[in-house]
Amino acid sequence: MSKAHFGLVGLGVMGENLVLNAERNGFSSVVYNRTFSKTEAFLNGRGFGKAITGAKDLQEFVSKLERPRRILMMVKAGSATDAVIEQISPYLQEGDLLIDGGNSEFRDTERRVSDLESKSFGYIGMGVSGGAKGALEGPSMMPGGTKTSYDAIESLVKKMAAQVDDGPCVTYIGPGGSGHFVKTVHNGIEYGIEQILAEAYDVMKRVSRMSGSEMADVMAFWNSTEELSSYLVEITEVCLRTKDSDGDTDLVEKIMDKAGQKGTGLWTVISALELGASVPTIYASLNGRVMSSMKTQRCNAEPILKGPQSQSFDLGNLDNGMAPLMDAVVLSSIACYAQGMDLLKIASEEYNYKLNMPSIAQIWKGGCIIRSRLLSRIQDAFNRDAELPNLLIDPWFSDQVNRRLSGLAYVVEVAAKSGIPIPCFSSSLDYINSYRTSRLPQNLVQAMRDCFGSHTYQRIDKEGSFHTEWLK
Ligand code: 6PG
Repeated sequence: MSKAHFGLVGLGVMGENLVLNAERNGFSSVVYNRTFSKTEAFLNGRGFGKAITGAKDLQEFVSKLERPRRILMMVKAGSATDAVIEQISPYLQEGDLLIDGGNSEFRDTERRVSDLESKSFGYIGMGVSGGAKGALEGPSMMPGGTKTSYDAIESLVKKMAAQVDDGPCVTYIGPGGSGHFVKTVHNGIEYGIEQILAEAYDVMKRVSRMSGSEMADVMAFWNSTEELSSYLVEITEVCLRTKDSDGDTDLVEKIMDKAGQKGTGLWTVISALELGASVPTIYASLNGRVMSSMKTQRCNAEPILKGPQSQSFDLGNLDNGMAPLMDAVVLSSIACYAQGMDLLKIASEEYNYKLNMPSIAQIWKGGCIIRSRLLSRIQDAFNRDAELPNLLIDPWFSDQVNRRLSGLAYVVEVAAKSGIPIPCFSSSLDYINSYRTSRLPQNLVQAMRDCFGSHTYQRIDKEGSFHTEWLK
């Protein structure tokens, strides 16, 4: 019997869809799952009639693959991934390749790449984005590791990935854990944009007293614009339009307001703090989830901590796409992408990843959760200037900032006066205002530091390091 082109370990939702995607693209496959009953169920169900076979154990699984073996692991990040690597390694031969397609922490991937490559196996840490549908129809893929290992999987991943106007949504990201690092930052941006849209919903609901279907109409409007056309706006419309089983109530209103997280947003913020990158919008979205989980405390605090009296404010209407609110969503989304791209650039320097910024924007244009039309503009911006210090000062983006900043500021004012938390809107406003201010008040912070701790300061009128006896 001829050997299979591709192997998959882990028949979870993503694994199942990815192997069906590979098979559809002409790669006969063999699958392994820790519990064989799951493999059988898959082979008799969605895998039936396809060029996919199963294996009962890892030895059989490996023996059914052509060499060099290309094995995708879709298992839980962390110790489960290490366990699969340990169990499968004895059966691998020189040149065989393991691909980790889970949301692994990039430092784990760094370690695994260097361990496995030193044993002459290839190891690729590959971010995969797009959820179940993307995995089946074409995800965005972010593979990192040695270039030779990537070359061995290129033909496979280029076919499996989403295809956009200028090619497949996959590229060689860089060495070590760079693929998982880029996926982590992707997820940080994802957290940010989800929170931005949730804030827009809250403001429309509580200030403008709009119904679910009216808010869904606004999302449809926004999705038709260049600035906001995106997958997340598209699914927000669907979420807002969906009724509960009674056919009457908006389903979102029945959902508990506590957001979970699996770690990637947190890792983005940790990395940014470690690297000295400024990501306030992304951090605000993470903190939004943390505050949301404090449901009991919030319920207890509501009658104690009085907010402002409600007033009415004009936030526009559907005909102008709720103009100031659209300004707030556009600029906060731009701030979010700008922060993510900036973090990537800083990490690229620090870890010597040599990230190609236009290519990263390109592979996020299709398949992934943060796909949007803005990404073409981001790609153009970095193509125009590979060393662009910040997206905000690219001509197209600075024009957006200059046209929309007063709208964002107005929405922040309205929300503050209405007692509505808008962590992403307000931190984006502060981010933009800080970035465009040549003289910030940290001169006074420096004075205080020198006053109490002799930390010294620099002057704007002469070179050197200075200390003053402030308390004499
Ligand atoms: C994707 C997603 C996917 C997922 C993460 C984040 O790109 O397909 O990023 O990987 O959404 O699991 O999920 P949490 O919100 O649970 O952290």
